[in-house]
Amino acid sequence: MALDPAEIRSRLEAVQADVVRWRRHLHAHPEVSFHERETAAFVFQTLQQFDGLQLTRPTENSVVARLVGAQPGPVVALRADIDALPITEENEIDFVSRNVGAMHACGHDAHTAMLLGAVKVLSTLRDSLVGELRFVFQPAEELPPGGAQPLCDSGAIDGVDAVVGAHVWTPLPVGAVAVKAGPMMASSDTFELVIRGRGGHAAQPHMGVDCVVVAAQAIVNLQQVVSRNADPLKPLVLSITKMHAGTTNNVIPDVAELAGTVRSFDPEQRQQVPGMMERVLRGVTQAHGAEYDLRYQFGYRPVINDARITGWVQEALLAEFGPDAVLSPEPSMGGEDFSAYQTKAPGTFFLIGAGNAAKGMAYPHHNSRFNIDENALRIGLTAEVHTALHLLEKLRQAEH
Ligand code: NI
Repeated sequence: MALDPAEIRSRLEAVQADVVRWRRHLHAHPEVSFHERETAAFVFQTLQQFDGLQLTRPTENSVVARLVGAQPGPVVALRADIDALPITEENEIDFVSRNVGAMHACGHDAHTAMLLGAVKVLSTLRDSLVGELRFVFQPAEELPPGGAQPLCDSGAIDGVDAVVGAHVWTPLPVGAVAVKAGPMMASSDTFELVIRGRGGHAAQPHMGVDCVVVAAQAIVNLQQVVSRNADPLKPLVLSITKMHAGTTNNVIPDVAELAGTVRSFDPEQRQQVPGMMERVLRGVTQAHGAEYDLRYQFGYRPVINDARITGWVQEALLAEFGPDAVLSPEPSMGGEDFSAYQTKAPGTFFLIGAGNAAKGMAYPHHNSRFNIDENALRIGLTAEVHTALHLLEKLRQAEH
């Protein structure tokens, strides 16, 4: 029953070349969110070559592989996102994107390849597994409403006791991994705002209501939602990312259109933001005789790492990589739909260092020159396999 560490190591070693090859194939053939048809087919066909899996396609462009061990026990899910971004790649590499206008600029090619490698290794250990491992290949992480929620709704995560996700991360040097309990990624909500005045001649502003000036005041006053209304101990971002009004020099326009995003780690605070924005907008527009229309959309929930599961993942990483390599990450105000799974099961989301400035691999995520140090693949694969096995073990002990 006990798995021989040396044996696992040699199986991990044996799959390295496959993982690099799969990652390069995926990198050369990226597909943007909600269009991952070929990617999902590639994942499915690759998984078909491994023994002992139950494969399903619960939602469009997703693939779920279940590895049910010889004896019943806890269920651990591992998730990889598979989608690319609408970016034209500017790297000069052999496996550069062949789909113009699409690029794996966030490393989801690496996530997919690493998880395929983990399945290949773990599927050879099926006879000694107690419990079930579930591998979730998820489309559309980059584009809300995302691919995670439909997978949860489909029942693909039902019965899961712990869920784990990982992200390669170029701001972190290759060789490091980073994991932390508590808030990890922020909620990402969006809004559209229209300010209506009454247009007219630019030389006679008193004859109308200037939506441009009102919009400017709204922008400034909305910043006070963060600086004056929100608890300073609870991080909150409110960014106006678009403003558009008018067509020429001598006409005061009728409407100004704005848009933006709101980020928070605190579910309660997050719910309060639209109300605080309404209050500011009502006051500012009323003061100047204008009107407004705010459309607020809740996006991904915050990723909050479960303390117990995170502690076990940390144990597995420390045992494998040693204390110098296992860091505690700063939370990010970026969003991640991994949070959807955390409504179904406690889980943790951790980072795999993938940056290497000396090799020119330190461009930020979503940059047209983004690339990872492929040594991160070995580390990520190793982390996933050991995390999965350690969680099965710990959950089983906790049940008894
Ligand atoms: Ni990403």
